[in-house]
Amino acid sequence: MDCGSVFGSLVQAPEDPILGVTVAYNKDPSPDKLNLGVGAYRTEEGKPLVLNVVRQAEQLLVNDQSRVKEYLPIVGLADFNKLSAKLIFGADSPAIQENRVATVQCLSGTGSLRVGAEFLARHYHQLAIYIPQPTWGNHPKVFTLAGLSVKTYRYYDPATRGLNFQGLLEDLGAAPSGAIVLLHACAHNPTGVDPTLEQWEQIRQLMRSKGLLPFFDSAYQGFASGSLDADAQSVRMFVADGGECLVAQSYAKNMGLYGERVGALSIVCKTADVARKVESQLKLVIRPMYSNPPIHGASIVATILKDSKMYDEWTVELKAMADRIISMREQLFVALSARGFLLIPLSLIFYSLVLVLAFKILSKDISISYLTGTPGDWSHIIKQIGMFTFTGLNSEQVAFMTKEYHIYMTSDGRISMAGLSSKTVPHLADAIHAAVTRMG
Ligand code: LMR
Repeated sequence: MDCGSVFGSLVQAPEDPILGVTVAYNKDPSPDKLNLGVGAYRTEEGKPLVLNVVRQAEQLLVNDQSRVKEYLPIVGLADFNKLSAKLIFGADSPAIQENRVATVQCLSGTGSLRVGAEFLARHYHQLAIYIPQPTWGNHPKVFTLAGLSVKTYRYYDPATRGLNFQGLLEDLGAAPSGAIVLLHACAHNPTGVDPTLEQWEQIRQLMRSKGLLPFFDSAYQGFASGSLDADAQSVRMFVADGGECLVAQSYAKNMGLYGERVGALSIVCKTADVARKVESQLKLVIRPMYSNPPIHGASIVATILKDSKMYDEWTVELKAMADRIISMREQLFVALSARGFLLIPLSLIFYSLVLVLAFKILSKDISISYLTGTPGDWSHIIKQIGMFTFTGLNSEQVAFMTKEYHIYMTSDGRISMAGLSSKTVPHLADAIHAAVTRMG
């Protein structure tokens, strides 16, 4: 309809597949509603968490009257950049000691990916970037809009709910020499499926032999296993061979700094001279995009990383978050496996109920699963790692769970385990059980 607006012909854009889940959740008046869509940590009480160590760092910053609000340099806070590189590559990394790493502060993981991708589109000879199938929904958009050409490699096997390692090797083996490859450093989003260290080593050998350029997305360092070093192993393996790579780091999850938008892009180069030139070109990417990054979040991170006492406190709080997520996995797995077994002792007592149930099962009025647990193998819930479980539920089952149980999750069946609590596990197990048995 012509309403006189120069934008009158616009069509309504759909909500973002991940952040739009929160929009729908916020509109739901049900007291039972549960948001397992966006990957954001919640406490056992279902509340967002600000780490104690972050509160302490903020207090120090507020009390420091010498602090001003001047612009940061285009590349961000120098201390933050140095400490971020040390965190991901390790304190004794030869690449850092030899000044071969160019690190720039960016707007969390997404901004780091975007700056890295724009840099590659301008200065790298290959525009093809191979991303895992599936991957975080924003990846293809970030890379396409930066000017790269997105291709996929096989990653997840729905049959095993694990890694399709053979497919991965075949697809990377067939990629053109020099192609960029996006790798999730740990806790693959959305599948929660990571290669083993032996598999990482094979991936590294294959990629180096073909001159493929690794671009790591490290959004969950320390958040997956609870150990900052263990979760950085894949990246460190690639850096240890002396080859080049890019790494996007985010502090959204591991320091809970979601809305502060704090992250870093590091480009590991062969020589210090190249790293200097790379940094100079990164500045030309950043300056026309957002000029220079915000100061607050990076100051919090730098305050924590440079003080050994605060750093130690952070690792304890981080491990507690990772452990709570692991415990949610176990509780959900047990809840699904144990379903029905609760009915067996009851049935011994209420013999007549057993007869009724038996009759109903025989007449196919009720599924046998009510006596033997939720149908299917749910062991992937405890095998997968990190914030998400890739349940294997299809979009109809997800829609059913949202409609009937007010459980919000992405339509690909991904559940944010960090949004669950001991109190809400039974509700989720009920919903999954009903979805599988009724929408199977
Ligand atoms: C997610 O995958 O839920 C997070 O990385 C948040 C986001 O920005 O999508």
